[in-house]
Amino acid sequence: MDKIAVLDFGGQYAHLIANRIRRLGVFSEIKDGTVGADELREYKGVILSGGPASVRSESAVRIDPGVYELGVPILGICYGHQLTAITLGGEVSPGEVPEYGPADVEFNERKAIFEGINEKENVWMSHFDNVSTVPEGFEIVGKTKDSPITAMANYDRKIFTVQFHPEVTHTPCGNTILENFVKETGATRDWSIDTYIEDIVAEIKEKAGDRKVFLMISGGVDSTVAFMLLDKALGQENVYGLFVDIGFMRKNEREEVEAALKGIGVENLHVYDASKEYFEALAGVVEPEKKREIIGNLFLDIQAKVSDDLNLNPDKWMLGQGTIYPDTIETGTTAHADKIKTHHNQVDKIKKLTEQGKVIEPLNQLYKDEVRMVGEKLGLNEKMVWRHPFPGPGLAVRCLCSDGEDKPANLDDLEMRMGEFVAEVGMKTKVVPIKSVGVQGDERTYRHPAIVYGKRLEWEGLNKLSTQMTNQFSDINRVLLGLWPQADAGFESLHIQNTDLNPGRISVLQEADKIVMDYLLEAKIDRDIWQFPTVMIPINVGSQNGEPNGESIVLRPVCSEEAMTANFYRMDFAVLDELIDRLKKALVDTGKISGIFYDITNKPPGTIEWE
Ligand code: XMP
Repeated sequence: MDKIAVLDFGGQYAHLIANRIRRLGVFSEIKDGTVGADELREYKGVILSGGPASVRSESAVRIDPGVYELGVPILGICYGHQLTAITLGGEVSPGEVPEYGPADVEFNERKAIFEGINEKENVWMSHFDNVSTVPEGFEIVGKTKDSPITAMANYDRKIFTVQFHPEVTHTPCGNTILENFVKETGATRDWSIDTYIEDIVAEIKEKAGDRKVFLMISGGVDSTVAFMLLDKALGQENVYGLFVDIGFMRKNEREEVEAALKGIGVENLHVYDASKEYFEALAGVVEPEKKREIIGNLFLDIQAKVSDDLNLNPDKWMLGQGTIYPDTIETGTTAHADKIKTHHNQVDKIKKLTEQGKVIEPLNQLYKDEVRMVGEKLGLNEKMVWRHPFPGPGLAVRCLCSDGEDKPANLDDLEMRMGEFVAEVGMKTKVVPIKSVGVQGDERTYRHPAIVYGKRLEWEGLNKLSTQMTNQFSDINRVLLGLWPQADAGFESLHIQNTDLNPGRISVLQEADKIVMDYLLEAKIDRDIWQFPTVMIPINVGSQNGEPNGESIVLRPVCSEEAMTANFYRMDFAVLDELIDRLKKALVDTGKISGIFYDITNKPPGTIEWE
């Protein structure tokens, strides 16, 4: 199979480039930017990604110049454009005007990888430095108003470079350029999900030999599809799929996963109901880190207990995992994400098994969209295939606990200053007497949310307000828009309720979460939203004399690429009002909750989850 390498210089789009090339039918792999040319001999072409640094800085990542001697076509993008100029004897200087976002390029030549595009094209840029002199043998192919060498080529050596990003959809001619590049490499376009399935099935058979596979299934698309591939390759009698119900799943989750798999003939899913053990272990625990620790450790204990019960002799059994490609590659963009999510499957014991060749990961070459395609090909239903990501600890990290009011020391002064600030846009504000997790710089923060209410600004106004508030008032890291009760008076009195994780609260949260998730599908906005946590906070809104009258829920829909950063989703107001109405009828009118909020915090400064 022909392959194209993408050398990663720390740009946020390296994975996107590889993904686009695969969509064009050629298998593509990410390599570290500093890889030696010798390791690239089996590739038909090399793409150099963008990167955050300036090529002019001392510490800038360099490329092995031997890469340019491989004799295969090369495409340099952004940092790769400038790196090529510098490495081959051209020059790069600071631009007078940085270009971020859309720019108009004029092409003076349109052949080879530029064939078929227009003389003038709108493209996506993100750079400060400019190539100011082309290396010997190169011609200038395109320019913008502020960057005179936006594209250059050495047609004899088939080295092409562009300052803009052809891999993003904001560059409409980008796919033509990438497709032309693939043609230049002469790579056979024979990679597809069908061939992948055939190849991986053969590979699993060979790797497993006469061993069986044990796989933990979370109900998410990755582990479910991994399970289906293992079944297909080895036969159901040789695969033991285990679903541990920790009690913090979505409503009917276990039944839905079982039904979806049974519906396509999968019968070897075993369920271990650990909910009682979990609720017992977490009784009285309030602190978020403590909750996570207990949940993670208990999960490992259960995994160990089940493998002991099954008597999984390590010579006869392998461990299956649903790890996907971005998780296996440490790049500028995923290194941090790995730190945030302490995955159950990264623990030392499992790393040791991997080193011994005892772990099988059928999806570790695939991107998420490709995993979904495999799922579809194998008959998994649409609802399962398109599930939003769901954290391992489940609703446990979306159900905040409390053992007493937690207020900033300077509350009155803070609320007064915040009040003056939001009064300018006609709103009111209060500090919520609990804390939630956020992220600023590389640091996790644990601070108060603020609520704003009294008037519903347009989303853009709310976005600005939330950003300014979290920048200006260091005691808060999150801002919520009060949705219910509509009457202002309701938000004047917020009362904390002391409580821990218990089945009653989880069941109310499950009900709220189900209303939200069902509504997303019905309103056809589930694919516009990357993830939609519904969070329960131990706050009674508007109760008289502090009498408990139900807690509150927070809607937290976000748009994101791989969770590193996120923007709160701007739901159409008419759609939102219908959702509020449904929640109100089912939960407020029945006394189960008293308040509804919408989280208008981006990441940073908030995290997606609250704990
Ligand atoms: P945050 O809240 O840090 O979350 O913005 C980023 C992404 O990671 C998910 N997440 C987890 N996933 N185990 C997981 O498997 C965990 O402990 C965990 N904590 C957060 C979160 O849902 C979001 O998609």
